[in-house]
Amino acid sequence: MRRPVIAGNWKLNKTVSEAVELISALKPVVKDAAAEVVICPTAICLTEAVSAVGGTNIGVGAQNMFHKDSGAFTGEISPVFLKAANVEYVILGHSERRQYFKETDADINKKVIAALNHGLKPILCIGETLEEREGGTTFEVITTQIDGSMADMKEMNLDNLIIAYEPVWAIGTGKTATKEDANEVIGFIRKLLRERFGDKVADATRILYGGSVKASNAKELMEMPEIDGALVGGASLDVNEFANIVNY
Ligand code: 13P
Repeated sequence: MRRPVIAGNWKLNKTVSEAVELISALKPVVKDAAAEVVICPTAICLTEAVSAVGGTNIGVGAQNMFHKDSGAFTGEISPVFLKAANVEYVILGHSERRQYFKETDADINKKVIAALNHGLKPILCIGETLEEREGGTTFEVITTQIDGSMADMKEMNLDNLIIAYEPVWAIGTGKTATKEDANEVIGFIRKLLRERFGDKVADATRILYGGSVKASNAKELMEMPEIDGALVGGASLDVNEFANIVNY
């Protein structure tokens, strides 16, 4: 059985004091969750967030990292720094990183490998744009993203890998993929994992859906057989909304 993961991607929101306040409010309302609960605040909040969640069922993730350990890479953080700060997860290849910061599948591939090598749990994001969906190329795009961002990983231990299917057109737009569409694409991703990495990886990897997940649609998405959780943006900034998603 794959344990569901509900992860909140706070994006560029919540200062350190606001993050600590939100975590304090979240702790009691998510404490009985059956799902694995993760919050991903900005990098500057990570240390405080890790202490604020101490002893609870909430895990902490970063939103990005560079693939090198250390050195002359101004402005970056690395897996070594995340591990040293007791951060457990890291979102990689989010569509906003791809779109605004020009990250390619090759860049993301290096990051996923580095994260796994350092014992982090990468949440690898993939998903098609509206143009690609309307042009009927969703499955090609997904195949290219999986093959590019998971290149040279055949011999690796992928136990810690989490994938998030986030159709770009559903992010922050209020338009959720239908539960059938999300389930279909996630099933397709699992089929790719089976062909490329074998049954064990395909059966064990949690594949989440992301894109306008809210309390009102979480349950129906989570009931779909291929969907193993949610990566939540806007709705993760509201305590009650996020709690209702976590406790779907
Ligand atoms: P929204 O939930 O705000 O649509 O964002 C989804 C997302 O990008 C999570 O990573």
